[in-house]
Amino acid sequence: MRYSYPEMRSDPPEQSITGPNPSGGWDAHLYDDKHAFVWSMSSDLVDMLAPQPGEGVLDLGCGTGHLTAKIAECGAVTLGIDSAESMVRHAQQRYPRLRFETGDALTMDFDQQFDAIFSNAVLHWIRPPEEAARRMHRALKPGGRLVAELGTHGNVRRLVDAITAAREAVTSAAPPAEAPWYFPTLAQYCSLLEHHGLDVTYALAFDRPTPLDGGDAGMRNWTQMFGDRLLHGLDEKSRDAVIAVAEQGLRPALFHDGRWVADYRRLRVAAFRSR
Ligand code: BEZ
Repeated sequence: MRYSYPEMRSDPPEQSITGPNPSGGWDAHLYDDKHAFVWSMSSDLVDMLAPQPGEGVLDLGCGTGHLTAKIAECGAVTLGIDSAESMVRHAQQRYPRLRFETGDALTMDFDQQFDAIFSNAVLHWIRPPEEAARRMHRALKPGGRLVAELGTHGNVRRLVDAITAAREAVTSAAPPAEAPWYFPTLAQYCSLLEHHGLDVTYALAFDRPTPLDGGDAGMRNWTQMFGDRLLHGLDEKSRDAVIAVAEQGLRPALFHDGRWVADYRRLRVAAFRSR
């Protein structure tokens, strides 16, 4: 029997919480153009999902839809959701035969359940993570599986420390009140999932040095796309100065052979709905 698409009941949130900055704005073209590593370096996560023909798969935080398309190529019936409308529009234009909707991990509510949820590089944007786990559990059929990758404890620590120190050195503006991302340890995330009825069958935390596109401008591009919250409240001139100081401090450790390599640390998990 072919799977039919669940309808999402929730309205999209008024403001994206998965976006890179407080206003939640994502530039989908820039994302694809200069930050394709986000999906290209994780495409083997789809192999871990092992999508089966006819099964219903939710791609939670689908971005520009490339991994959704890879899942759909296996014959699964996919629904890609993302809280950023620009991403959804871009994905829909690129893959017109697939279904994409604006939706959010904290408000998603479907009238049917999925065989599997897939999520790459998104769950670290979502707070509170408990609500995301509760909603994922509810969106899965009993026995349905979750395969996800997110930043783990220590992810981009050097980058963040350098930008924070540079901000303190360059400006007296108050720093952002709280860390913008959720980077749990392996143990923390496994217990969170298990507490919410998702039994973990696989978990791995690992360093994944990530080359950034753009040569010398790679760190600056990354900061503008993903680290915007660290520069919150600063004008253009102060931002430039903070990035320049951070670059200077980081160059010996993270700039090699003409490119920046970010100190990514990932967590991969597979779990299934056990109750
Ligand atoms: C990540 O995908 O690991 C990431 C994304 C945004 C900010 C920091 C890290």
